[in-house]
Amino acid sequence: MITEKKKNGQTHLMVTPVGLGTWVFGGWPWNESSDKDSESALEAALDLGVCLIDTAPIYGCGRAERIIGRTLKRLKKRDDLILSSKFGLCWEEGKRKKIWKDASSKNLLREIDDSLKRLETDRIDIYHLHWPDEKTPIGETMETLLLLKEKKKIGKIGLSNFNLSPLQEACRYAPVEVLQVPYNYFARDIEKEILPFCIEKNIVTLTYGTLCKGLLTGKFSGDKKPNDPVRNRSWDAIFAEENYEKCLNEIETLKIKAAVENLTLAQWAIRWTMHQPGVTCALIGARNAKQVRENFTSLSQESS
Ligand SMILES: NC(=O)c1ccc[n+]([C@@H]2O[C@H](COP(=O)([O-])OP(=O)(O)OC[C@H]3O[C@@H](n4cnc5c(N)ncnc54)[C@H](OP(=O)(O)O)[C@@H]3O)[C@@H](O)[C@H]2O)c1
Repeated sequence: MITEKKKNGQTHLMVTPVGLGTWVFGGWPWNESSDKDSESALEAALDLGVCLIDTAPIYGCGRAERIIGRTLKRLKKRDDLILSSKFGLCWEEGKRKKIWKDASSKNLLREIDDSLKRLETDRIDIYHLHWPDEKTPIGETMETLLLLKEKKKIGKIGLSNFNLSPLQEACRYAPVEVLQVPYNYFARDIEKEILPFCIEKNIVTLTYGTLCKGLLTGKFSGDKKPNDPVRNRSWDAIFAEENYEKCLNEIETLKIKAAVENLTLAQWAIRWTMHQPGVTCALIGARNAKQVRENFTSLSQESS
């Protein structure tokens, strides 16, 4: 169960096994993206029946949220889907490399209104604290989230990138309804503690990095490494020399497995993630409509 939806005055429970991630819509720190491609990617995803869109203010310092807001308005699709966003990462206007954490009540009350404005909506269905903020007591953050829920500015309370102990601590102040964490065939840390805890406590999981930032599409090879201008992939441990070589070798075997099932490697990797125990919804990023079509085609049949 992901969230309640109002239709004809009735509350419906929605289930969706995949969602579109929009980090790349913001451009930096990915290779530059175009608004036109991002809008087409979103439109293609909606056409294919994708009904959960994940974003964050920090993705392009407001740019991804603005693209989503105006596209949904143009297509009149806001009420058909689940919007997921985040708070707690701030940036200095004009100096996007200076980013800091702030999960305080004061900042949260400011951020929610900024996000609602950019997304051109009156509610965010799932609202996550993006990263734990060691300087703010988690009780303060959770109580403010409860207040926003009471005011109906948000639907479900979410946390992101929390380890077990801080997650358990947060649960003491308010129910954590959704947890967003990294997970894919190569990055399996959450299997040990986090997924079993979420299963036990009935916490919805949105897992991200399903394609391992493109590695699980098979498009990289030994001499064809990603070439990102800033951090991102070059900064990810999985792209460090020894891990990268190991993954590339394994990818050759995975490609054969995928081919046997008549799938591309990306499609195989997405299906692998969405079928793991404890995974509610796999988030998949895509920078254009072509990537969306490869990633999401035929998934709706799979989920029914
Ligand atoms: N909560 C958090 O802290 C957090 C962190 C990360 C992500 N997320 C969320 O999860 C979403 C998904 O994660 P992600 O975007 O990092 O990673 P991902 O889904 O593993 O990878 C997405 C990237 O892979 C490439 N790609 C996707 N489909 C492709 C295809 N069919 N063929 C070739 N390349 C393809 C694209 O980048 P290129 O074209 O540049 O190769 C795309 O941006 C994010 O967009 C965001 O919404 C959340």
